[in-house]
Amino acid sequence: MDAEKLVTSMFLIILSFPLCISLDTLTSDQSIKDGQSLISKENNFTLGFFSPSNSSYRYLGIWYVKVTKQTVVWVANRNDPINDSTGVLSINQSGNLVLRDSHNRLLWSTNVSVQGTTSSVAQLQDSGNLVLVQDNNKMLLWQSFDYPTDPLLPEIKIGLNRITGVNSFLTSWKSQDDPGIGNYSFKLNLTGFPQLLLYEGSTPHYRASPRPWNTPVAEPSLGFTSNFVNNEDEISYFSSLDDPSIITRCVVDSSGLLQQLTWNDGDRQWKQVWSTPKLCDNYGNCGAYSICIVDSTTRFACTCLPGYEPKSLRDGSEGCVRKKLGLSMCGNGEGFVKVAHLKAPDTFDAAWMDMSMSSLECELACLRNCSCTAFINYNTNGKGFGCLSFYGELIDILEFTDYGWDLNVRVDATESAKYTRKSKGFLGKKRKLAITILSIAVPLFLVSLLAYMWLMKKRKTKDYLEGNELEDSSRHSDLSIFYLSCIVAATDNFSPTNKLGQGGFGSVFKEEEKMLIYEYMPNKSLDSFIFDHTRSSLLNWRKRFEIIIGITRGILYLHQDSRLRIIYRDLKTSNVLLDGEMNPKISDFGIARIIKGDQIQDKTTRVVGTYGYMSPEYVIFGKFSTKSDVFSFGVILLEIVSGKKNTNSYQNHPSLTLIGHVWELWREDRALDIVDSSINESFVSLEVLRCIQIGLLCVQEDATDRPTMLAVLLMLSSETTLPSPKQPAFIFRSATNDFESIIGGELYSINDVTITKFEGR
Ligand SMILES: *[C@@H]1O[C@H](CO)[C@@H](O)[C@H](O)[C@H]1NC(C)=O
Ligand SMILES: *[C@@H]1O[C@H](CO)[C@@H](O)[C@H](O)[C@H]1NC(C)=O
Ligand SMILES: *[C@@H]1O[C@H](CO)[C@@H](O)[C@H](O)[C@H]1NC(C)=O
Ligand SMILES: *[C@@H]1O[C@H](CO)[C@@H](O)[C@H](O)[C@H]1NC(C)=O
Ligand SMILES: *[C@@H]1O[C@H](CO)[C@@H](O)[C@H](O)[C@H]1NC(C)=O
Ligand SMILES: *[C@@H]1O[C@H](CO)[C@@H](O)[C@H](O)[C@H]1NC(C)=O
Ligand SMILES: *[C@@H]1O[C@H](CO)[C@@H](O)[C@H](O)[C@H]1NC(C)=O
Ligand SMILES: *[C@@H]1O[C@H](CO)[C@@H](O)[C@H](O)[C@H]1NC(C)=O
Repeated sequence: MDAEKLVTSMFLIILSFPLCISLDTLTSDQSIKDGQSLISKENNFTLGFFSPSNSSYRYLGIWYVKVTKQTVVWVANRNDPINDSTGVLSINQSGNLVLRDSHNRLLWSTNVSVQGTTSSVAQLQDSGNLVLVQDNNKMLLWQSFDYPTDPLLPEIKIGLNRITGVNSFLTSWKSQDDPGIGNYSFKLNLTGFPQLLLYEGSTPHYRASPRPWNTPVAEPSLGFTSNFVNNEDEISYFSSLDDPSIITRCVVDSSGLLQQLTWNDGDRQWKQVWSTPKLCDNYGNCGAYSICIVDSTTRFACTCLPGYEPKSLRDGSEGCVRKKLGLSMCGNGEGFVKVAHLKAPDTFDAAWMDMSMSSLECELACLRNCSCTAFINYNTNGKGFGCLSFYGELIDILEFTDYGWDLNVRVDATESAKYTRKSKGFLGKKRKLAITILSIAVPLFLVSLLAYMWLMKKRKTKDYLEGNELEDSSRHSDLSIFYLSCIVAATDNFSPTNKLGQGGFGSVFKEEEKMLIYEYMPNKSLDSFIFDHTRSSLLNWRKRFEIIIGITRGILYLHQDSRLRIIYRDLKTSNVLLDGEMNPKISDFGIARIIKGDQIQDKTTRVVGTYGYMSPEYVIFGKFSTKSDVFSFGVILLEIVSGKKNTNSYQNHPSLTLIGHVWELWREDRALDIVDSSINESFVSLEVLRCIQIGLLCVQEDATDRPTMLAVLLMLSSETTLPSPKQPAFIFRSATNDFESIIGGELYSINDVTITKFEGR
């Protein structure tokens, strides 16, 4: 070897040395030729030139180092392959990364505008991200994570960067040996409520169930957490690994399969964790208003949503339509049926999300707008807030086995009653207000009737209750069975010290064989809250409004939704019990009456009820109707708003009742003065005024001027214009009546159980 050659080879070694030292960075005076590469610091990823299997073309790309089967995660010149080994990556004078071939053709570049004169540096990070930063201040100019190829690596965000305007999404390779942009993409669609979709061209193939934003969702079976971010900087989805040592990627392959693959070092294989679409995952498999249900590993079935029937004779596979005989669903007693464990319907068409709405507000908002077809309560992380409502066709719904959302589907009054009576089936677990009232009040009432009939029969045969089961009621599987002896023991032989309530209709101790046992209501009755100085502050305006709605629904059910028309006759605050969550339940059907078929009113010679709550036609003529219950409801409503008893007297106007007092203030435009001072936090004045106005309408002198309970519910839950109230009944206290005297509707409560009599008829 001569000296000249030795010097040349030493020079070459020195020249190539810098590339070997800073393996992960490329500076403006360096380049990467085919055969050379960048390697990230912890040896996770390599950037260099490669050829796909069965291809001789050269591409610049990034692949895993530790995965022995070459797996490319990013490609620069996807649609512009190089046909030889002359490709060179460098940083040009204006600071951009550029890829050229031997003919000096530009095949790819970062194409960003770089401010200032300082040079830029490219670095391959251990996450697999190639970043271009300005040398001095490290400002990020460009990153490969903004322009992903087909895999979603952990921390890659897909969605819109609102600052740069870049919308990132995945696109498949054309085929296994062509990384060119293929026909499939996985992207965030921002039309309507944003959601992730897999497309073939512009045709949706699979849609991920939409999720609330800014509440990370752990996916333990997939080994990562899903993050949906929506703020002023971005709206995006990304996953973060629970265990960063795991090598995993979610990839859209060239055949249109979206799959999660995890590298198994032992087998030296990628293992599929999850893939889609299959069977019900295929977008819109079943058509509108139809639920796709997986039958077996190879088959699925289509079932219509409640209130809908198949479009074709066969099944719901061509979609469903509203039942032909259905009633109007706009202010006509409609309700919601909950269908559990679903993928939320497509949100592209007029879906609306409000993360500040409670479940009740969500339901009311949907009920109020006649084009609302369904709603979902997003109760993530136990926060109980979040409302997604739908205003168009409900499509691409499928049933999951043990997770998913509860979809509340708008149905007409008949359908609503049908599902309420079934109470299982489509109806889910927890329906806070309405259904609890109905499910408690109605069975209790029916049981009291059954028990009564049974007792009458028993009495004839001189057979007494002691020690016997309540046979008839034992058919109701939900009911507990009590023995008289147990109750005697529990109540210490009906000792007066155990009485919680007091009434005026005979003595409770003479009624040994007439009894009704109530569910224990830990919070006692409504009057013990609203008329109590310390406890009234526990009920803020929102809670009071929810209680008003709850009572409205309870009475509406009795009047209209149940098969029997029931007139309660003794509505008052002490008959409204509150459960542990302060949900109202109507109790004490002591003097309730069932009236026949389409009969609207009845007459009695024995007026029983509570003064202050009874309507004029009932007190004077003994006539009772659903409208007399409306009167009592009006009084309760005004008492809830004001925290005062109707029978109270007012210092300035000792002769005025609460009704009279409210009427005076209403006429003077000062109705808000009546609001209970213990609702000291802010309340919605318009909502409170509306309630007062509805209250006044309910206590009108003439029964025909009072609204029905259905109208009351609609008035409470919409913003329609209300009629102006006329002067109500009973605005003055009667000098002869002692308002505190109670002539019926007594309630005896004994420790855990409450016992009341019911009137023999
Ligand atoms: C490469 O080509 C061979 C022969 O045509 C074929 O059997 C093989 O599946 C191809 N490999 C890939 C990855 O496409
Ligand atoms: C490679 O591409 C260049 C430019 O298109 C062309 O001139 C050249 O002939 C090609 N070489 C081969 C071997 O195909
Ligand atoms: C570079 O960006 C400009 C404007 O954003 C665009 O018009 C141009 O086509 C891009 N050039 C390349 C080579 O991508
Ligand atoms: C560097 O590359 C960018 C992007 O292709 C191009 O716009 C710019 O003109 C190039 N600058 C120079 C000095 O060649
Ligand atoms: C992409 O779609 C077009 C039009 O449907 C089709 O002609 C082409 O073969 C598809 N390409 C691939 C790679 O599937
Ligand atoms: C989003 O979805 C709507 C409805 O399917 C569609 O019209 C629109 O083109 C989609 N937008 C994008 C960016 O894919
Ligand atoms: C690089 O790989 C190792 C082992 O696979 C992993 O623990 C580490 O988190 C990776 N680094 C990054 C930045 O992802
Ligand atoms: C019902 O909701 C839709 C969608 O948000 C809206 O366009 C429409 O104006 C609403 N209708 C009423 C009566 O509020």
